[in-house]
Amino acid sequence: MAPSGKAPIYLDYNGTTPIDPEVCRAMSLMMSQHWGNPSSSHYYGVQAKKAIETARRQCAELIGAEPGEMTFMSNGTETINQALKGLAEMGEAEGRRHFITQASEHVAVLEVCKALERHGCEVTYLPVDAEGLVNPQTLEAAITPRTICVSIMHSNNETGALQPIKEIVQRVRKASNRVYVHCDASQSLGKLPVDVNKLDVDLLTMAGHKLYAPKGVGALYKRSTVPALPPLLHGAGQESGRRASTENVIHIVGLGKACEIARRDLEKNQKHMQEMRDRLYQQLLQGLGSKAWRPDPGKSWSLRATSCVRTGRLRRGCRTPCPPPSSRWKPTHFCPRQLMRLQPLRALPVTVMRCTCRMCLRPWELAKNGPWAPAALHWAVKALAKRWIKRRRSWPRLP
Ligand SMILES: Cc1ncc(COP(=O)(O)O)c(C=O)c1O
Repeated sequence: MAPSGKAPIYLDYNGTTPIDPEVCRAMSLMMSQHWGNPSSSHYYGVQAKKAIETARRQCAELIGAEPGEMTFMSNGTETINQALKGLAEMGEAEGRRHFITQASEHVAVLEVCKALERHGCEVTYLPVDAEGLVNPQTLEAAITPRTICVSIMHSNNETGALQPIKEIVQRVRKASNRVYVHCDASQSLGKLPVDVNKLDVDLLTMAGHKLYAPKGVGALYKRSTVPALPPLLHGAGQESGRRASTENVIHIVGLGKACEIARRDLEKNQKHMQEMRDRLYQQLLQGLGSKAWRPDPGKSWSLRATSCVRTGRLRRGCRTPCPPPSSRWKPTHFCPRQLMRLQPLRALPVTVMRCTCRMCLRPWELAKNGPWAPAALHWAVKALAKRWIKRRRSWPRLP
């Protein structure tokens, strides 16, 4: 989004995305005209129902699924809860209560796993390497006859690490044909091609607000061959009994439209975002030298830049005026939390994690913001570096 007036430059599109104007228009139409309850059989209800089914098709088409395999829910977190808790309940009858995941998953997965452990499930948290990747061989070795589910994300929200999902699934299938694979693809949809048949996953999570749809909507893909999961919510049996509660039609329409746009523009946006990522990296490299850091583009999607200061301070530093001609624009958001979580695994030195910030772009971001984002960042880093060096501290070294 182009900064206007005092608005800071936004480089946190993994955190959330604004609603696409086309999505807004589709939602406005629903708000003003098709406000019926989709369970009603009269005209207004039928219009709302039709809109939901269109959205279901649009979501399914983005990932190569069948519309009937999609269930709308309130967000990405709910879809993960439904997938993992549903499988845990299903596996109980068969005595299969072992889950496999990895240490740098989003908390929406890790916290569900902890909850499952409190309810008697066993969870294996696989370590990741310095690139944030799981070793598929280690994963295969962790599968036991009690394993019901492997849950591995596609692209990491903090590091951009792209897990080798295809290879992971191949190894899972080799070890057992009774293990279900869930993939949290919230961060890769709209940025990379995601096809449930090519990846061969059984369940997949979509989160609307990472995809230029509104917050508070998500969808769970469940392959038709996976048995029905016990629902989290019981009630009037909406979504074919898979998720009770009157559908959030407006947001569902928004998610459907966002998926349609993501599919339509994927090739063009993917190419453009890669170019911008590389351009931003080059600009940071010029200003920050070896402190600018781009993980292997084949293994990761995002860009990280290290500074000599903790990210919290860098954020404060960025509030100070940027160099002329713009004294108002400020790059924002640095999120060290997930990187910190990798430390017990010795993936990265703690200084690097404390001092690393993530930068996430959206299509056309740099084209609109010109060189100001990296310029503002250099300025803040250098101002803070002076103070840091005065205190005779050394700069963190990258691995
Ligand atoms: C990778 C990943 N999974 C799941 C979620 C949770 O999605 P939601 O905020 O829609 O519940 C997020 C959101 O930050 C995420 O980045």
